[in-house]
Amino acid sequence: DAPLRDLADAKGKVIGTAVTGSKLSGTYAEVAAREFNWLTPGNAMKWESVEPSRGSFNWAEADRIVDFAEANGQQVRGHTLVWHSQNPGWLTNGDFTPAELRTLLMDHIDTEMTRYRGRVAAWDVVNEPFNEDGTYRQTLWYDGLGQDYIAEALTRARAADPSARLYINDYNVEGVNAKSTALYNLVRSLKERGVPIDGVGLQAHLILGQVPGTFQQNIQRFADLGVDVAITELDIRMQLPVTDAKLAQQAADYRAVMDACVAVDRCSGVTVWGFTDSDSWIPDWFEGQGAATPYDENYAPKPAYDAIAASL
Ligand code: XIL
Repeated sequence: DAPLRDLADAKGKVIGTAVTGSKLSGTYAEVAAREFNWLTPGNAMKWESVEPSRGSFNWAEADRIVDFAEANGQQVRGHTLVWHSQNPGWLTNGDFTPAELRTLLMDHIDTEMTRYRGRVAAWDVVNEPFNEDGTYRQTLWYDGLGQDYIAEALTRARAADPSARLYINDYNVEGVNAKSTALYNLVRSLKERGVPIDGVGLQAHLILGQVPGTFQQNIQRFADLGVDVAITELDIRMQLPVTDAKLAQQAADYRAVMDACVAVDRCSGVTVWGFTDSDSWIPDWFEGQGAATPYDENYAPKPAYDAIAASL
C-alpha cells in the first residue's frame, strides 16, 4: 500500500507527526520518513529545551529534526515560541518587570526563528492562550504584558521570518464551543487590526468516541475568516486495556477527523502527536489511558492507520 505521505501529497494535504529527535534512527526513523510529509518537534523547540540557562543555548535536538526533515523532503512545523508551560526555570522564577519580559520574549522569537529562517514552514507562535470558558489564560505573558502579548508576538514573528506561516494553537477548540469562539473572535480582531496571522492550529487531543459533531463546521468558520486551519496534535486516547472494539471505534474517530479536514480546502492537513504508542505522551499524563496513536508499540499499523489512509 502507498505510504500516507504519497496519498496526502496527491491531495495537497499535510500528514505530519510529532517526533523525538533522540529516537530518529532504526525503525522509528524509517517509519517517520516513509509515512509523513511534515514533522513537528514534540519538545525540542520549546523554550526550556533550547535555552535551559539564560543565554546558553542547546539546539542539538531541534537541529537534528530539521536536518532529518530536509534529508527526507519533509517540512517542519515549529512548536512553540510563546507558551505558559515548559519554560526554563530562570524565566519563570526570574521576577522580571513587564519591560524586561517583553524584551526577553521578543529576543526569544528573534533568536529561534532566525536560526531556522526559511527552514520551518509554519510556527505555532502562540500556544494555548485560552481557558475553557473563553477567557484569557493567566500566564507569565498575559499577567506581564496584557492580552496584546499575542499581537506583539505575531508581529515580531513575521519580521523574524517573513516566509513562515504564523499560527495560534490550542486544545479543546475542535468543536464549536466557548473556547473556540474566543479563538475565533481573537483571529477576527487580529485580521481587522492588520496583525499577521495565517492560521489556527486545533490540537485535537481527543477521547475515544468523542469527536465533536461540529468539527467540520468549526474548521469552516475559521477558513471563512481567511486563515488556514491545521490539525496539529491529533491523538485519540482510550482507557487501557486495548480491545478490538476500542480499536475499531478509534479508527472511526480518526476517520471522522481526517474527513472533516479533507472536506475543507483551507484545512492544510493533520499532524499526529507521535505516530507510535511507544512515543506518546498519553500514558504519562492520563492515568490508565493510552494506545492513542496510529501504530502500536511495535510499529504495527492499527486500524486507525488504515482509516487515515482511506480518508486520504
Ligand atoms: C507534550 C509532550 O508530548 C510531552 O513529551 C511533554 O512532557 C509535555 O508536552 N499540547 C502541546 C504539546 O502543545 O506541546 C504537548 O506536548 C501536549 C499538549
